[in-house]
Parts: sequence; C-alpha cells; structure tokens
Amino acid sequence: MIDKILEKNDPGLSDVTALLNAEGRDRGLLFEKARQVKAEHVGNKVYLRGLIEFSNICAKDCFYCGIRRSNSRVPRYDLSDEEILNAAYFAYKNRYGSIVMQSGELTGPHFTERVEGLLDGIRESTEGNLRVTLSCGEQTPETYERWFRAGADRYLLRIETSSRELYSRLHPNDEKHSFDKRLQALRDLRSAGFQVGTGVMIGLPFQTTEDLARDLLWMKSIDIDMVGMGPYLEHKDTPLYTYRDLLLPKQARFELSLKMIAILRILMKDINIAASTAMQTIDPQGRERAIDAGANVFMPNITPCRVREFYKLYEDKPCTDENPDDCRRCVEQRIASVSNDVAYDEWGDSGHYLKRTRPADR
Ligand code: 5AD
Ligand code: FES
Repeated sequence: MIDKILEKNDPGLSDVTALLNAEGRDRGLLFEKARQVKAEHVGNKVYLRGLIEFSNICAKDCFYCGIRRSNSRVPRYDLSDEEILNAAYFAYKNRYGSIVMQSGELTGPHFTERVEGLLDGIRESTEGNLRVTLSCGEQTPETYERWFRAGADRYLLRIETSSRELYSRLHPNDEKHSFDKRLQALRDLRSAGFQVGTGVMIGLPFQTTEDLARDLLWMKSIDIDMVGMGPYLEHKDTPLYTYRDLLLPKQARFELSLKMIAILRILMKDINIAASTAMQTIDPQGRERAIDAGANVFMPNITPCRVREFYKLYEDKPCTDENPDDCRRCVEQRIASVSNDVAYDEWGDSGHYLKRTRPADR
C-alpha cells in the first residue's frame, strides 16, 4: 500500500497520515524514497547557517516556551551590536555563507531601527557576501519591508501548528497571540519579498497524527520555501508542563519528527529543510539523522558562550557549553557521518524560491 502512496503526485490527508504511521518495511520504503528525492532535487550537500541568538527578551507568553515573558527565572540578555557583528564576521570568515539572527519577540520603532542598523553593518563588514535570515517574530508589514531593503532576504516564522484549535490551547487567548495574525504575517513576509520559512512542533500535548499530516499539507498549500521543525520538549517553568503526562515518549516524538522531514522532502522536493537542534536533544546523533531523512540545512550555534545557556526554549538544549570554534569542527564530522558534504561559501538559497520568482531560469 505504501508503494502506491509513494508514487502519487498529490497525496491526500489519509495518505500522509498512513506515511506517518508507517512501520517495518513500509517505514524503510518511506526513508528510501526521501533519500532518493533529496539526492535528485537538492543533492547530498548541507548548507550552513550560523545561528546568533541575539536576545532572549520576549514580549510574548507562549505556553510552551522557556523564554516566555512570565518566566522570571531566566536572566535576560541582549547582545551588544559589537558582539552581534563579531559573530556575523566569524560566520563569514569560517565560510558559512549565511547566518540566522534570532531573538525573542520585540516590536516598535527602536527595535526595527536597531535590526536595520545591524543589517547595514553586516553588509559592510562582509561586502554583501553573507546571506542573512531573520527570525524575530511577528512585525508590521512596514518593518518587514525595511528589513528586506536593508539586506535580509529570508525570514523564519513558525506557525507552531496549523490547527487553529490546537494553537489556541498553546497560547494565551488575546490579540498578541492570534492565529489569524500569524497567518497574515506569513503572507506579509511573502509580499515583502522574503524567502519564507515556517515550521511546527511535533508531539505536542493534544496533537494527533492527523494534525501533523495536515501541517505538512498546509505547508505545501502555502507553497513555503523553507521549513524548520522538531520535537516539542517540555520545559518545567512553563504552563504546558502541566500536561506532560499526555506526551508521547521522547523517542516516539523523535521518530515522528524524522518521518515528518522525510514526507515533507517527498511532498516539496526542492525546499530547504533544517535539521533542528531540538532533534539533538533527544538523540545525540539527532541532527545527522535528520539530514539522512531529508534535511539539507544545519545551523551551528555561534552565539557567544557568555549568554548561550540563557536561550533555553526547552530543557537539555545541546551545545550550550561549546564555543563557536568547537562547533565548527564538530559540524563537519557530523555531516560527513551521513555521507553528505558541507557547502562552504554557498548561500544555499531555497531552490523552490528561485524557481517561483525566476521561472525563466528553469
Ligand atoms: N520545545 C520545542 N521547541 C520549542 N520552541 C519553543 N519552545 C519549544 C519547546 N518547548 C520552538 C518554537 C519556536 C522556535 C524558535 O522554537 O517552534 O518557533
Ligand atoms: Fe555545536 Fe556540536 S554542533 S558543538
């Protein structure tokens, strides 16, 4: 039965759900197909994005997140402009090709201007040779446009779950945490010109396998360019911790995450898919296994050591005591262990985005 589904051009909800439930021989066929699609459409190489977690100050209160505003146990930090520019330069010097600047969600003219200034600074110090992805939450369309003009060209904004009902159980019920606004933000990012990335958490309390299948079909329906997704990991200082007894065992969440990646690779052959750090929290080889399942982006953490331990969205986050140099060495080994090559000095734009925006080059 799985063989038939894997041949379909346009699998439906029951097909994708069946793939998520595949076991034994069927499971093997799923991963084999994903590997084949990856080799054919994006190649067995992995793009690097140096991840700079530049501030853990957040105005939001998502029920799952360790740096939510109401968690008074986390010391808050905000890197200096100099520290951020140095980290970006480190990525450039180490031939990473690209960085991701991530922070808690802050809004307002001061924040917009600050990020704009940082983008200018990065462009100057790297002569425009470093691609920048932003991951700074929901902003106004004007802010997105300003950041795009200042040189950022990709933006990550996870939907967390495409189920409106589940979304409302994971967030306070107010204007700041509106599902509709999140959907609108994704449309605004697309209009501003960004390569747009989204993603979901896998194995949330109350989440069903069918919800996850719908997540994948939703990503396809909005024609997304990039995806980062990984297992939900409970954090004891958050409200969602109350429901920890409802969770699947961590290994099952990990297995579902691998299957989500493999199925997405088959559904959207030329997009960029990240091997999320959360995968490595459950399995020491988690990110390598994600690459083997279909991911083609790896995000070495280049946040200065002094603050790393404070950016804990979930507990047991790996690599919080390594310095950026150690990370660099370890990344290459990890990627080679699954017979993929590191793409140094490559921007690694989403092939999907390039085809969508420049169809003449096809
Ligand atoms: N477990 C796993 N992922 C989490 N994130 C936030 N909190 C958790 C958690 N407890 C993810 C969200 C967010 C991204 C930056 O980190 O998907 O969008
Ligand atoms: Fe950072 Fe391993 S990836 S130390």
